[in-house]
Amino acid sequence: MSSNSDFLCSLEIPDCAWFEFTEGGLTSVVVKTPLAQARVYLHGAHVAHYQKAGQPPLLFMSAATHLAPGKAIRGGIPLIFPWFGGLPENPQAPAHGFARTTAWTVESLKCEEEVVTLVLTLNESAQTLENWPHAFALRYTVVIGWDLRVSLEVGNTSSAPFTFENALHSYFSVSDVRSTPVVGLDGIEYIDKVDAATRKTQSAEPLLITGETDRVYLNTRATCLVNDPGLSRQISIAKEGSESTVVWSPWMAKAKAMADFGDEEWPTMICVESANAADNRVTLAAGAKHTLSAVLSERPL
Ligand code: BG6
Repeated sequence: MSSNSDFLCSLEIPDCAWFEFTEGGLTSVVVKTPLAQARVYLHGAHVAHYQKAGQPPLLFMSAATHLAPGKAIRGGIPLIFPWFGGLPENPQAPAHGFARTTAWTVESLKCEEEVVTLVLTLNESAQTLENWPHAFALRYTVVIGWDLRVSLEVGNTSSAPFTFENALHSYFSVSDVRSTPVVGLDGIEYIDKVDAATRKTQSAEPLLITGETDRVYLNTRATCLVNDPGLSRQISIAKEGSESTVVWSPWMAKAKAMADFGDEEWPTMICVESANAADNRVTLAAGAKHTLSAVLSERPL
C-alpha cells in the first residue's frame, strides 16, 4: 500500500465510510449509513451514486461508463470547471474542462449524527496550466444525509482576475424521460444547442422532453422540480451561486453515438445542471472566492 492509501485508510469511519481501490485504478469513498448510501470517486470528485434509505437511486449511472483515469464518467454528478462544453480558443481541449477527469485530494472525511461530509480539493498543475493558465484552489464539499448537498468553492489564487464556467452536471434517474416534466423554468430565456444556439424563451408549461434536448437556461436561480409519476417521486434541485440551469437529454440517436452510454438507456435519465455558463460565466478577482452549491432531494409524489 502507498503512503497515500495509508493516509486515506486513516480517515475511514468504521461501518460508515471507507475507501475502495478498485475499478480500473480509481479510488472511491463508499458511504453506508442508516440515512443513505453513496459513492464518490476521487477521480473528478465525482459523486457516482446516492440513494436515500428505502428509495431507488437518485442519480443515473450508465452501465457502459468508462471507469478509468483520464476518462469522464457517464452519470452521477460530473463536476464541470473551468469551461462548459468546448473551449473556443482551443478545440482540442477536453469538453467540459479538466476538473472531471483529474484526481482530487481528500482534505477530510467526517460523520456526525449519521451525516457524512467529504471535502476534496484540487489546485492547478502543469497539466491544467496547459489549457487554462491560471492558479486556482477548488474545494468541493459533499454532504450525504437524507438529501445530497454539494458545494464547489472556486478560489482565485493567481495575481490577476480570471473568468470561468462551472456546473454540477447532475444526471437523475427517472422512470421515463418522456413523462417526467421539469418545473421551474417557465418564462426563462435559453440557448437551444440543438437548434443552432438560437435564443428562445420557455413557455409557461413545464418542460416535457419530446426529442433531443440541450438547453442552457440563463439568468435563473430558480429551484427546479422533476415530477416522476412512474417512480412516485418528485426530485428537487435547489441551488445557490448558480445563474444558469442546463437541461440535457440525448434521446435516441445521440445515445447510440456515445461509446460510453447504452443505446437503450436514454429514457431513464435526465440532466438538470446547476451551472454558470455562457452569458453567466463568472469573473473572479485575484484572491476572491465563488461558491456554487446545490441541494438534491426527493419526496413522494
Ligand atoms: C451537457 C451539454 O451539459 O453535457 C451537452 O449541454 C453535452 O452539449 C452533454 O452533450 C454531455 O457532455 P459530455 O462531454 O459528457 O459528453
